[in-house]
Amino acid sequence: MTLKLPRIIGHRGACGYAPENTIESIRTASDMGVKWVELDVKLTKDGIPIIFHDDTLDRTTNGHGLVAEITYEDLRQLEAGSWFSDGFTGIKIPTLDEVIEELIEMNLGLNLEIKPCPGREKETAEIALDHLSRVWDDHDKLIISSFQHVSLETAMDVARDWKRGLLLDEWPENWKDLADYLDVSTVHCNGNNVEREQVEDIIDLDLPVLCYTINDPQKARELQSWGVDSFFTDVPDVIEEALFTVH
Ligand code: G3P
Ligand code: MG
Repeated sequence: MTLKLPRIIGHRGACGYAPENTIESIRTASDMGVKWVELDVKLTKDGIPIIFHDDTLDRTTNGHGLVAEITYEDLRQLEAGSWFSDGFTGIKIPTLDEVIEELIEMNLGLNLEIKPCPGREKETAEIALDHLSRVWDDHDKLIISSFQHVSLETAMDVARDWKRGLLLDEWPENWKDLADYLDVSTVHCNGNNVEREQVEDIIDLDLPVLCYTINDPQKARELQSWGVDSFFTDVPDVIEEALFTVH
């Protein structure tokens, strides 16, 4: 299996232009020519894998409180678009199953970020990968990533051959050991605080370097000149143009 990594990965779909982590955001990304998207998965109280970023409902829905305390049935009553703009009023939080169907239909690659609610690191990975394994068969177009090492360890246990990506914001002293132990295929780091030497350290390990979340054209070009392979961005059209335009 060889990863077919694109240069641009739509962050939470194309969340500069549509409500993050929704079917509409994925379609917006695809319409812009994006080949892969990054989406966050977590569980409802009753263990249904949904695509959602925060631990609480408040920022991106008309609900309140913890995601870990709402059932899927109640979550489906919520509205997840009007916080972004009136044109998206009424849209729902999608399940992992729904987005997988959409991605396969659109022939998009996926970086699924396991984003567990606190204490659910293992079961989120187990359930999400179980759902994915029922329908996803193109492993050149799939990376499972997480900031949570337990989630990556679980991914390694239940689907050893699937590609894993180590997500870094802070850089623990032992990050190279972690990358080695978790047998990752990629390293994903915060492009807005990474240093050139750190990018070079990843390249020395012979691993692709992916940077989030890059919305500034100048930053994208700088990171590209350091050897960064791929960019998570909310604004795929802006970064695409920055990377392919010679200045
Ligand atoms: O996976 C890259 C990026 O999405 C990690 O940060 O908070 O946007 O999920 P966050
Ligand atoms: Mg994410």
